[in-house]
Amino acid sequence: MTSPLVVAIDGPSGSGKSSTSRGVAARLDLAYLDTGAMYRAMTWALLQHGVDLTDSDAVAVAAEKISLESGTDPAAPTIHADGVDVAEPIRSDEVTGSVSLVAAVPRVREILVDMQRATIAGSHGIVVEGRDIGSTVAPDAPVKIYLVADPAARAARRAAENGGGDAAATEQALARRDEIDSTRATSPLAKPEGAVVVDSTHMTLDEVIDAIVGIVDAAG
Ligand code: DC
Repeated sequence: MTSPLVVAIDGPSGSGKSSTSRGVAARLDLAYLDTGAMYRAMTWALLQHGVDLTDSDAVAVAAEKISLESGTDPAAPTIHADGVDVAEPIRSDEVTGSVSLVAAVPRVREILVDMQRATIAGSHGIVVEGRDIGSTVAPDAPVKIYLVADPAARAARRAAENGGGDAAATEQALARRDEIDSTRATSPLAKPEGAVVVDSTHMTLDEVIDAIVGIVDAAG
């Protein structure tokens, strides 16, 4: 049996990963997995259980009991935690402000990486977006992309997604999250070995999708 095609797309927040990854998956008729949504859903569930997120031992113990389910249709991705549809609440400021704490706990990463590998193995081919896909989750992926953009462009996109708002404050919040994500001990955000860097700062979404589809075709 041949293993499914895996397109790993890593990069910081606001680089356009989600729209790009969904677009690439739709164009290539592949499944789509948003691993950031899984870290967010785990964070949402831990908050529901009243777990102190600064207590990494308590987080690790509680995380074992939380069930997550990711729907992988790029046209309509879904995420459930303990049976609850959490697509909206995982985008709240509360979850966004705490998710880096949860993502830094090694046991949480082990649990979620196992789930991600199972989803990949069960797919017919998949685009997986995150921070550690090309390095840790799927190091043998035949296509690895590291999607970046200037901090100001990333903040402007995030602020627009959130219905306008303060781009300068968003840029600060992104910088803080990048700092935590790229300096944590386990699987820090970094360009995976063998990844192609795509800088989306001056590209439209369609141009980025075209570029990545071209890279996949060339690898095939
Ligand atoms: O991509 P996002 O903003 O939804 O990610 C949410 C958080 O989860 C972010 O702080 C980084 C973390 N994350 C991670 O550590 N590893 C991944 N594979 C995906 C996300």
